[in-house]
Amino acid sequence: MTMDWQQGGFGVYVHWPFCLAKCPYCDFNSHVRAEVDHEAWRGALVSEVARVAAETPGRRVDTVFFGGGTPSLMPPETVAAVISAIGTHWTLAPDAEISLEANPTSVEAGRFRGFRDAGVNRISMGIQSLDDRALKALGRMHSAAEARAAFDVARGLFERVSFDLIHARQGQDLDGWRAELGEALSMAVDHLSLYQLTIEPGTRFHDLLERGRLKGLPEPDLAADMYALTQELCSAAGYPGYEISNHARPGAESRHNLTYWRYGDYAGIGPGAHGRLTLAEGRTATETLREPTAWLNAVREQGHGESLREPVSGADQATEYMLMSLRLAEGSDLSRHAALAAEGIPERRIADLVEAGLLWHKGSRIGTTPQGRPLLNAILRDLLT
Ligand SMILES: C[S@@+](CC[C@H](N)C(=O)[O-])C[C@H]1O[C@@H](n2cnc3c(N)ncnc32)[C@H](O)[C@@H]1O
Ligand code: SF4
Repeated sequence: MTMDWQQGGFGVYVHWPFCLAKCPYCDFNSHVRAEVDHEAWRGALVSEVARVAAETPGRRVDTVFFGGGTPSLMPPETVAAVISAIGTHWTLAPDAEISLEANPTSVEAGRFRGFRDAGVNRISMGIQSLDDRALKALGRMHSAAEARAAFDVARGLFERVSFDLIHARQGQDLDGWRAELGEALSMAVDHLSLYQLTIEPGTRFHDLLERGRLKGLPEPDLAADMYALTQELCSAAGYPGYEISNHARPGAESRHNLTYWRYGDYAGIGPGAHGRLTLAEGRTATETLREPTAWLNAVREQGHGESLREPVSGADQATEYMLMSLRLAEGSDLSRHAALAAEGIPERRIADLVEAGLLWHKGSRIGTTPQGRPLLNAILRDLLT
């Protein structure tokens, strides 16, 4: 019998929580530390791979993703040790996608060859902007020229290279974004992640906004126009949006992220990493301690870094499946949702959203239309509550 997770595949996420500086917009689990005991971290990450693999024996790993924080600050030997442990304790698919997030500074570009030799075959680079003033406002440690140079090094070593840009920034207008995105598309290899700036609670930007000191953020209408322009220019250049913020040449989608959006299983290794694992007792949510030293000590002293483990009910799985899969252009499978939930989504709710032009409905699949995409949260509320 096929289990639900098999429709999404199996991936391993590895979190490296350190950065050279904290960017003012970022609420990821990232920390600045003067010193990192690399040997201890290597040992702890490898031991967590062995622990989680022992619970999911016989699995084939389709994708590995080193995210952060700044994993391009990892010693390549640590990356190699983690990949090797994954291959030892599980089976690593021969064509596995192994991605690593990199910041575009020259220091990190110097390590790219080491990452490739360790087994990484895809780089995802946080360029954020191609404009020096914007990079400064975003608190980045690199210039646009340095980013282009690091990108060229990556492109010379890896067949698959993606990069991230942030739009709807302070002082940005539509023409500026058009020009910047045009340049980005001329550099692109096979994949682009284009995020709208969000002001997250707990960040320095949030604090400044509360005090009225974060000036020049675009009004919602302008931000919506930037999003629409992004879809138009990327599609025209052969990089259609396959997810709300992600664009790829057909076939070059991030397979690891597709595992989340298609609601497969994933192991979360490292501090603050989340997992969804189908175990003998059913689908299980896992989380690890977020604070790096607390996580490291827990792995060393109690043999695991886990802070949460709980069953995910069928109804919750159905909801999670919808929340994730409706982000994708390919949409969601209503029969998969119904098999997980005790009851399906009432036909009338779907029909109303189709009539409003926000959803399409073909056979057992539904998905958002271009008009519906920016309204995904409201659509999900209508469908699921
Ligand atoms: C986990 S971050 C790590 C990437 C890497 N450390 C870097 O900064 O280049 C992944 C991506 O999320 C995006 N991101 C982070 N915070 C964001 C925010 N508040 N709004 C929009 N995008 C954000 C950035 O584009 C970033 O490259
Ligand atoms: S955006 Fe990247 S470099 Fe900046 S704090 Fe977040 S994870 Fe670190």
